[in-house]
Amino acid sequence: MKISVYIATSANGLISNSRNVSDWLSPEYGQGMYAMCQKFKAVIMGKTTYNIIAPDYLPLKDEGTTVVLTTDVTAKPDNPTIKFTNDKPAEIKQALEDKGYTEALIIGGTMTISQFINAGLVDEIYFIVEPVLFDAGLPLLKDTTGELKLNLLQVSKLNDNTVQLHYHVQKK
Ligand SMILES: NC(=O)c1ccc[n+]([C@@H]2O[C@H](COP(=O)([O-])OP(=O)(O)OC[C@H]3O[C@@H](n4cnc5c(N)ncnc54)[C@H](OP(=O)(O)O)[C@@H]3O)[C@@H](O)[C@H]2O)c1
Repeated sequence: MKISVYIATSANGLISNSRNVSDWLSPEYGQGMYAMCQKFKAVIMGKTTYNIIAPDYLPLKDEGTTVVLTTDVTAKPDNPTIKFTNDKPAEIKQALEDKGYTEALIIGGTMTISQFINAGLVDEIYFIVEPVLFDAGLPLLKDTTGELKLNLLQVSKLNDNTVQLHYHVQKK
């Protein structure tokens, strides 16, 4: 099964600003993320990201599977397609494979992406580079070890100012 990350970044590589307000994200970022989630039908995110976008902006409303990492697994999700879990990345991958999914998309945030990177389970990354520079904010990765090499698969211009960089992650 292929796991991809889809993430918007500032031109200096941060995924949120110090205000923690998402007014820097282009409509094309949202449209692209929504389209890929619709295609894969399996989405992974952390509880902080879920709390920001649920219920109105969840990319899969009541279809497919939305996996949300949380320590609070007794909490009840809004609908049965949402699974709150404290499983490890490899267990999440296995569970999605067991359900027949061949691709899944991680949409954030840093903590969630970092754990899948550390587990060696990210195959591809889509960076949507927005035309802003942040003085401070969240990096893409935290508490990961080592370096990873990437192969550039595609560069797409999404609007006058936003580009999408699609990379394959080389296995160590
Ligand atoms: N630029 C973009 O495209 C983009 C996309 C998404 C998010 N973001 C930004 O990213 C930020 C959120 O990222 P984040 O790193 O703070 O949070 P996150 O990855 O979205 O969620 C972290 C939370 O997930 C749960 N979690 C993570 N690992 C776990 C594990 N192994 N077991 C159990 N639960 C686990 C914990 O929730 P509990 O506390 O419930 O246990 C933890 O507090 C926000 O500022 C958001 O705006 C940016």
